[in-house]
Amino acid sequence: MFKVPPISAQRLPDLLRAMPKAELHIHIEGSLEPELIFALGQRNNLKLPYATVQELRSAYAFSNLQSFLDIYYAGASVLLHEQDFYDMARAYLGRAALDNVLHTEIFFDPQTHTARGVAMETVINGLHRACEDARQELGISATLILCFLRHLSEESAFETLEQALPLIDKVVGVGLDSSEVGHPPEKFARVFARCKELGLHLVAHAGEEGPPAYIWSALDVLKVERIDHGVQAVHDAALMRRLAQDRIALTVCPLSNQKLRVFPDLADHNLGKLLDAGLAATVNSDDPAYFGGYINENFTQVFAATGMSVRQAYQLAFNSFEASFASHPEKRVWEHKLKETFERFFEQD
Ligand code: HPA
Ligand code: ZN
Repeated sequence: MFKVPPISAQRLPDLLRAMPKAELHIHIEGSLEPELIFALGQRNNLKLPYATVQELRSAYAFSNLQSFLDIYYAGASVLLHEQDFYDMARAYLGRAALDNVLHTEIFFDPQTHTARGVAMETVINGLHRACEDARQELGISATLILCFLRHLSEESAFETLEQALPLIDKVVGVGLDSSEVGHPPEKFARVFARCKELGLHLVAHAGEEGPPAYIWSALDVLKVERIDHGVQAVHDAALMRRLAQDRIALTVCPLSNQKLRVFPDLADHNLGKLLDAGLAATVNSDDPAYFGGYINENFTQVFAATGMSVRQAYQLAFNSFEASFASHPEKRVWEHKLKETFERFFEQD
């Protein structure tokens, strides 16, 4: 393991911004900024229930996950054409590159769109073309993870998978999101088993608001490779040991947890505890247009609030590459760049 050099604490915010990183938990519909919602609404001749960008932004005051999801699904209703999906994803990728994101695995929620009559190929082709262009223009690596909405039925998830099959080469894996409590992972056991047979990578949101039991069943029933959020694992010592032993990554989203009142005060966030227990935690933005910041803002705010260390910064960035579904050679290149950034900061200290 790389011996992290002693860099002065006052340079930590700059280091957090400069260090190369991967983002593994970003819902592309959650990157739709109010300005883009208005621009797309106008382009598609839609009438929005808000008069101005400011009015829409001022509606972003959430009390829990469901209160956010209601506004998030309404915002996504401006997406109709392939170019709309392209513009949304291209805007996110441009923003992520500024935060020194070298690789990102992007969630999308097809059922939010197919339910409104938008074709699956419109969604996937628009997002995929944005990923290809961003790789050419910015050098950023980006792949797509199709998420099933857990408040909908198993049958709807199977139908969604069926619709995506002709385009499945453009998708690296599947996930599970939306309203957690009352919709345990095992509801989707059969559809995840089918996805595994198809060779897709598997992830699921679990332990955001829901209990540790949902993390257990995401691991043991769905057979996921990463847990999205997972912060409720601290309430179950046996689960913490399992996650550490099997190096199951948690894609933690500090500003999301603050805004949805999982940890109303960021100073109480348990990210440091998860790392101290030997878990492969990572930092991510979840829905940056709604929660007040992209990935670097998540890093700088949670470090400022909790007093985490330079060594923990390195560990989080390293974990993000290691937990990604990229190839081993790609991971080694990114991890080398990460080391170089820390050495450069040390020499300049
Ligand atoms: N949790 C569940 N579903 C979601 C989220 C989240 O944080 N963001 C977008 N869909
Ligand atoms: Zn999420």
